[in-house]
Amino acid sequence: MSIKLILGKRIADAMQRAGAGQDANPAVARSKQAKFGDYQANGVLGAAKKLGCKPRELAERVVAELDLDDIAEKIEVAGPGFINIFLRTDFIDRELSLAGNALQPAEADSRQQTVVIDYSAPNLAKEMHVGHLRSTIIGDVLARLLEFQGYTVIRQNHMGDWGTQFGMLIAELETVPGAENMALNDLEAFYQQAKRHFDDDPAFADKARDYVVRLQSGEQHCLTLWQRFIDISISHSNHIYQQLGVTLTNEHVMPESAYNDALPGIVNRLVDAGLAVDDAGAKVIFLEELADKNGKPAAFIIQKSGGGYLYATTDIAALDHRVNTLGASRLMYFIDARQSLHMKELFLVGRKSGIVGDDVSLEHHAFGTMMGKDGKPFKTRAGGTVKLADFIAESLDRATRLLQERNSDIDSKEQQDIARKIGIGAIKYADLSKTRTNDYVFDWDSMLSFEGNTAPYLQYAYTRIRSIFRKAGLQRGERTAFAIREAEERELALLLLQFNNVLDQVAQEAYPHVLCTFLYELASAFMSFYEACPILRSDVDEADKNSRLALCDLSADTLRCGLNILGIETMEQM
Ligand code: ARG
Repeated sequence: MSIKLILGKRIADAMQRAGAGQDANPAVARSKQAKFGDYQANGVLGAAKKLGCKPRELAERVVAELDLDDIAEKIEVAGPGFINIFLRTDFIDRELSLAGNALQPAEADSRQQTVVIDYSAPNLAKEMHVGHLRSTIIGDVLARLLEFQGYTVIRQNHMGDWGTQFGMLIAELETVPGAENMALNDLEAFYQQAKRHFDDDPAFADKARDYVVRLQSGEQHCLTLWQRFIDISISHSNHIYQQLGVTLTNEHVMPESAYNDALPGIVNRLVDAGLAVDDAGAKVIFLEELADKNGKPAAFIIQKSGGGYLYATTDIAALDHRVNTLGASRLMYFIDARQSLHMKELFLVGRKSGIVGDDVSLEHHAFGTMMGKDGKPFKTRAGGTVKLADFIAESLDRATRLLQERNSDIDSKEQQDIARKIGIGAIKYADLSKTRTNDYVFDWDSMLSFEGNTAPYLQYAYTRIRSIFRKAGLQRGERTAFAIREAEERELALLLLQFNNVLDQVAQEAYPHVLCTFLYELASAFMSFYEACPILRSDVDEADKNSRLALCDLSADTLRCGLNILGIETMEQM
């Protein structure tokens, strides 16, 4: 258990005994300055206000009830009624010797909760572009984290593989010689070529439209062509996932078309339930709860007047599948903020129809847009969308040049591998370290810098620590040797002991930047410790040396564990 949780529990109990009520919140946090102790509980102020008593008096009563002998060497009431806690050093030492446990993944399914995570979900008509990056990267962090914590995670890649565009694409595949190779080599060029044919050649356009109808009515010839195209497109996505080190594979592909057969049943069910009504031939669910400012209810269309189904219909079927077949009790969707209204409508329909029970948590984790330096959505110089394949290539290229400039004596094969880890890590971290819900400005130079809150900085910090052991020809530290003395050691130790808390917070709120900020603070605290506390100097006594080596070791392992959860690889040297 984390220090914050232990303190929180003990103080809450003491508050209750002191008459502050059942659910008094102790509000425990790290103290901002050493003179206020290591931790502070500020909850007495709020509790006193509720009770109408003097906060300082209540604080004194709480402290009188508080038993922290095994944890704290001193407890003080300060200011208007803060409780300052000065931890015992032997308590910190003991906690540190247990901290390695938090770095081991929990046993699979030990939480006995199934979480479905919907992320990436590119449309297969075109090649993946930077617009898919955020969902792919952020969603993957939550999948990794929740798995690490022992949840059963089911990844669902809700790929867009159905719709009118596919008529044009399969017509192209069939009609134009060499088209298949082109699609394999450059899907984007293939799409552009098909589009040109569609626009310029009326006979081709007629064929494309005919193929849409035949495809949707399940005609075998068209289905076969379509499947060929889909396989090619998925192979492109898989290549991107592999390059990025994203954990999505074929087994997670659950595309829109997979729900086709369920759609008529979904519509009938919603009509029978009285939720969907006929509106000029279409089937629509009117949602008063989501009315606009003029009181006009939101209209969630689930079937067009011509009988066709929509993105929304498929999403209801997917929701049903995830909750009632896969058995999820938590659903996390990582989708662009522009789909927020759609998601609200979807969740509301899920609840109102009874498809989703009250015990299931439905969460849309929206994110902002990746912007260029000009403050507009990130584009190529010519103003086009940036293909992910090109974007990744550029990052790898820049990382390679960066390493060459550093002139290290590492052999070229290993350098290539290091460049890959830096290039991919930088892309991911640049995204993850920003508050998810905001837009962010993308900049190659700052994300690849070895200074500041970047992946290369953290990767470098990790290699620095590992090199301490390597240079000294030492094995890893003995994890029971902790004997904290100096302020910088204490600062680092208390951060290390917060790792669990941070993971819990990210698992709950799905803001990966919280973990990034933590790792950055950890690396910085390590650097301060390393400057202030000699380790291998001859005048350092054995106990200090061993404790400091153990701190180094725990710091390196915590950094690596945190980075791995972010999907970022580490290296032993760079
Ligand atoms: N393919 C969609 C798009 O590119 C995203 C799908 C997200 N997931 C979902 N269940 N709607 O906009």
